[in-house]
Amino acid sequence: MEKTNSIIQVKDLTKRYRNLNPVDHVSFEVGKGEIFSLLGPNGAGKTTTMSMLTTVASISQGEARVAGYDLRTDPGEVRGRIGVLPQEVTLDDELKGIENLLFAARLHHVPENVARGQAHELLSLVELEDAANFRVKTYSGGMKRRLQLIAALIHKPEILFLDEPTVGLDIQTRTRIWDYVQSLNEKNGIAVFMTTHYLEEADYLSDRVAIMDHGTIKVSGSPQELKESLHGDILTIQLAEDGVDLSSFLDTLEGVRSVTKIVGGAYRLKLPRVESELPEIITKITSQGLKIKETSFSKPTLDQVFLEVTGRSLRDAEEMNGHSSSGKNRKEAAGGI
Ligand SMILES: Nc1ncnc2c1ncn2[C@@H]1O[C@H](COP(=O)(O)OP(=O)(O)OP(=O)(O)O)[C@@H](O)[C@H]1O
Ligand SMILES: [Mg+2]
Repeated sequence: MEKTNSIIQVKDLTKRYRNLNPVDHVSFEVGKGEIFSLLGPNGAGKTTTMSMLTTVASISQGEARVAGYDLRTDPGEVRGRIGVLPQEVTLDDELKGIENLLFAARLHHVPENVARGQAHELLSLVELEDAANFRVKTYSGGMKRRLQLIAALIHKPEILFLDEPTVGLDIQTRTRIWDYVQSLNEKNGIAVFMTTHYLEEADYLSDRVAIMDHGTIKVSGSPQELKESLHGDILTIQLAEDGVDLSSFLDTLEGVRSVTKIVGGAYRLKLPRVESELPEIITKITSQGLKIKETSFSKPTLDQVFLEVTGRSLRDAEEMNGHSSSGKNRKEAAGGI
């Protein structure tokens, strides 16, 4: 593979288990200093991809370079340059917060005096100084996740891998974790590879997003590019009739760019400007003797990109056990991507 300015390069990466390919010829690059999110529902292959990139799982086929090193030939060099926050909690409950950090430092051969200084700085970053000397079994879920985040940073890695960093946490804790990740990225230039099934998390934090489903990457780009790729607004019309497929009829209506039939007699229409086209569409539908039960419309979101490329909503595709937020894209808020 060619050397580039990317900090992660992945080409045709594949994982095989017997008759299953949880990761199937996946290719992408992550630029230096970038926050990259792999977004997908349960079982999409996110953790398996991350396990290969962090040297935990072997690569069945394809190539990957992380921090300039080939994962197959130099896994040790890769390990020294990455910090990993796994999906599952891996802290020692019986140890104090600070002891967990020093343990993580030892695994990375960081001298104890250096590690202590670094640990206090990191504890203060995630507002855990006061809990440093408590056993981890007394911590809340959010405190554990914050401690685990900084345990991944104790050896000053160049790239931070986060597997579902905020799953199951309340919205305040999630937002705080986003802020820490954002500040690490902005102040220390650390690149971040993150997996998530929270659309708002990917939208809020990422420079670039890849949508993964069934082991393959369906689409990738900046959140803004992905949303713009939808070319228009989405109108959802729920008709009273469910038996007949009205897709072809709806497709002939003026201004309609595409029609997708979704469950329960509802149709998603893509239109340039829903406000101006809606009255005419309603007239045409009702003049056919059809009854409209409900209509709603929206401007493009990452959720709709997901629906567009996978044919179903991320929220339908999985059990959402977290909390929703109305997070505004930070890069948009800061004046565009
Ligand atoms: N060691 C393994 N042996 C066999 N199959 C596996 C193994 N690890 C993962 N899989 C399968 O690979 C597929 C992808 O799993 P993976 O954990 O990568 O998904 P994920 O996108 O991280 O999902 P989640 O959002 O639930 O964490 C699943 O069907 C899973 O059952
Ligand atoms: Mg996973």
